[in-house]
Amino acid sequence: MKVLLVGSGGREHALAWAISKSPKCEKLYCAPANAGIAACAESVNIGAEDIDALVAFAKENNIDLVVGGPEAPLVLGLADKMLEIGIPTFGPNKAAAQLEGSKGFMKDVVAKYGVPTAAYGRFTDFAAAKKFIEDTPSKVVVKTDGLAAGKGVIMCEGKEDAIAAAKGMLEEASFGTAGAEIVIEEFLDGEELSYFAIADGKSILPLTSAQDHKRAYDGDQGPNTGGMGAYSPAHLMTPEIEAKIIKDIIEPTVEGMNKDGIPFTGVLFAGIMVVNGEPKLLEYNIRFGDPECQPIMMRLEDDLLDILYAAATGTLNTIKDVKWSNDTTLCVVMAAQGYPGSYEKNTPINNLEEASQTEGVQIFHAGTAEKDGQILSTGGRVLGITAKGQSVEQAQKRAYAAIEKIEWEKGFCRTDIGWRALKAEKDQAA
Ligand code: AMP
Ligand code: GLY
Repeated sequence: MKVLLVGSGGREHALAWAISKSPKCEKLYCAPANAGIAACAESVNIGAEDIDALVAFAKENNIDLVVGGPEAPLVLGLADKMLEIGIPTFGPNKAAAQLEGSKGFMKDVVAKYGVPTAAYGRFTDFAAAKKFIEDTPSKVVVKTDGLAAGKGVIMCEGKEDAIAAAKGMLEEASFGTAGAEIVIEEFLDGEELSYFAIADGKSILPLTSAQDHKRAYDGDQGPNTGGMGAYSPAHLMTPEIEAKIIKDIIEPTVEGMNKDGIPFTGVLFAGIMVVNGEPKLLEYNIRFGDPECQPIMMRLEDDLLDILYAAATGTLNTIKDVKWSNDTTLCVVMAAQGYPGSYEKNTPINNLEEASQTEGVQIFHAGTAEKDGQILSTGGRVLGITAKGQSVEQAQKRAYAAIEKIEWEKGFCRTDIGWRALKAEKDQAA
């Protein structure tokens, strides 16, 4: 099979690493790749959002499967265009991608099909939004309908804050067009985890859980980021919660969307709040998480290409069960100093080869390029040092042992990735 993977981050490196291990993978291309991906795929110099150029490349090179990594090309219609020329594509079409692209769309779909989620309202008119806030007994969360680079969610302590947030979004365009429509939700108090499942339009294949660390600094302090680390499985996950997520959240969503004529193909990344043991849906993303994908791919003991191809061709029912390692995997992100604010680019990184020899460790590149044999940083999040261990403690130790060996003066990482899981593991042992 000839495969074209779209995207250039740490998630895509993990996907490329897993796809390239498949005996059925004859050729793997990645557009636009990074220095790490280039070691397991042929790099194609086309931007992830240049849909027309990607379609032309896929046609010329007789691609058998296209895999969409990030949400942007999918929201722009990557799958629609590939399917028009008959190329199976892993990832939703433009209509189904609204599940991530529009919070209002997502809430309407799941509410219609009885999925447990926070009570909500959709608004374009400020007076109506204000009344909804005043009439809601609990604290509320105010969200832009559209994508706002992960920043369009405001947790409000009091009614005044909530009213000000709604006014800013609706009347002062504080988030541009993303906030021209908003969703106001009841605040859910609980513990978060993420769950991943694959869909082929009709049926689903449950994958596994993960948990990330969104804040920049130790102790989950500091500004929000795309994710400074993640581990799998999530320590809060139990067989009971997983069964409820599959039966009450993922299945009704996929069945409902199919019934509504918007079948979903690709990966559903569900943000879940567990409230008194009951999982409730916070949000859906239509892609693997980054960095969640890195530890998930390291736990996968099956052929990823088989799974992605079955989903893209509507034959997911041919895949029975996915095999997962019982080990814990944990990814620590190394970022450029200053991230998520401004940071320097093109700073040299050395000794990656030796660091990657650390037992149980795989280094996934996110923002790197190679110039004259030197690895340079090219982004905010730059590397994902991912380790496998028989315990959270062992996985964490291995990841940080590898990081010790990496020579990158202008980089930093959190020193406590997995701390909640580690604490739970220690409490359990005590
Ligand atoms: P979202 O992008 O909708 O998942 O929101 C981002 C983050 O905001 C989530 O990961 C939660 O931590 C928090 N959040 C969103 N909605 C709610 C809610 N209804 N109740 C409590 N926290 C929420
Ligand atoms: N790590 C969070 C995300 O990928 O959205």
